[in-house]
Amino acid sequence: MPKRMLMNAFSMNCVSHIQQGLWVRGDTRQLDYTQLDPWVELAQILEKGCFDTLFLADVIGVYDTYRGGPETSITEGMQTPVNDPAMLVPAMAHATENLGFAFTSSVLQMHPFAFARQMSTLDHLTQGRVAWNIVTSYLPNAGMNFGFGGLPSHDERYDLADEYLEVVYKLWEGSWEDDAVLRDTKRGIYADPAKVHPINHVGKHFEVAGPHLSEPSPQRTPLLFQAGSSTRGSSFAAKHAECVFIVDSRRSLTGAASVIADIRGQAVRNGRRLEDILFFQGLSPVVGGTEAEAKAKEAEYLEQFSTEGALAHLSGSIGVDLSAIDLDKPLDTIDTQSMRGMVKGLIESNPDQTQTFRDIIRTRNAGQFLTGAPEQIADRLQEWQEAGVDGFNLIYSVTPGTFTDFIDAVVPILQQRGLMQAEYTPGPLRQKIFGQARLPGRHPAAGYRRG
Ligand SMILES: Cc1cc2nc3c(=O)[nH]c(=O)nc-3n(C[C@H](O)[C@H](O)[C@H](O)COP(=O)(O)O)c2cc1C
Repeated sequence: MPKRMLMNAFSMNCVSHIQQGLWVRGDTRQLDYTQLDPWVELAQILEKGCFDTLFLADVIGVYDTYRGGPETSITEGMQTPVNDPAMLVPAMAHATENLGFAFTSSVLQMHPFAFARQMSTLDHLTQGRVAWNIVTSYLPNAGMNFGFGGLPSHDERYDLADEYLEVVYKLWEGSWEDDAVLRDTKRGIYADPAKVHPINHVGKHFEVAGPHLSEPSPQRTPLLFQAGSSTRGSSFAAKHAECVFIVDSRRSLTGAASVIADIRGQAVRNGRRLEDILFFQGLSPVVGGTEAEAKAKEAEYLEQFSTEGALAHLSGSIGVDLSAIDLDKPLDTIDTQSMRGMVKGLIESNPDQTQTFRDIIRTRNAGQFLTGAPEQIADRLQEWQEAGVDGFNLIYSVTPGTFTDFIDAVVPILQQRGLMQAEYTPGPLRQKIFGQARLPGRHPAAGYRRG
């Protein structure tokens, strides 16, 4: 039997997420992001298409690297303004039965005690359909907004994240025993206090007494997503993550395969199993009735694509002000005194050194496109799967249009080939994906369980 391909829709509670500049089109609902209706409708569309989750990105600061300020990001609606993704979950969950909801929360943005309670509440309200995308943030403004006086250094953020996870694991897994809640209406005993424990965590960054304020939810620990591919990010993923969002700058099958092999190898050395971590590739499908139709659509998107918006996005992501270089000069003539090392990866990812930086920006964007007739797209996804990818985070150009096109034309082909589920497995999200509602005993969180 072929392996099941997992499918997530990637979005953000903002106007313009990844494909910058397309929000102005009449066939996208990005301008309605402040309303509940488009989100509830999107969730229902995705559930009809048997998607696994709606995956919501988030940032907790403005992108202000480009041209030394946030003006371009604000002008372009480029991830600014951005509303809280977690707030969308209950309404969408109420309108669906099976779709999962993964949302991003940075370890810099909320105290772990408050976050653990928020997650447990959502896990209860969704009957166990939430996932957490653990991020450490990368925007300097994020650090300024939360009293860190700037972004803590890369490795400091991962140290903080390790302790953050220790605290939430203790609260989710170790505070309330499985049989603590009695709901005994005859004796008037709701819960047995002997089975509800403080955690008494004292660490470098946090002191948390506990007990956890929420009773055990269906998954206890939500399904854990992570993205981050540095050496430290990969070892963090190998320790904690169940689902990893990979981005290989070359977006190549071999690049993906090597990231996967590296993280899986580390996970096994940590006592986990190969199958404990699933990998998701981000791609942006452009589906047409024919290849020519799809290509014409892609050309239209590229034409409307905002280079300014993309530059502000990329500058913030790599921490380099790309306004400081002449975009129309060939790459190899750019004098990148202070930023040579940082742009090196981008330059090397493009074998044609005669290209300009502007070309790179365009092809980087186009490189995310997976354009073609439905059968071609299904074939291509199958190639990614054969290279070791377990699933996809689909990036929209227009919403919900990108998803409805995919669901109407590509999903039936994948289902016919036995590659995508045609109905959901019952139970919480982790059960649907890994076959059990709670984390396996070999995950580090399980070490905090009692009994
Ligand atoms: C595909 C992908 C998606 C990400 N999504 C977010 C996000 O929504 N919010 C965020 O703050 N960081 C996000 N990040 C940033 C990572 O979580 C991480 O902080 C960053 O990549 C730096 O880690 P690294 O140096 O280990 O790669 C994302 C990273 C990748 C690769």
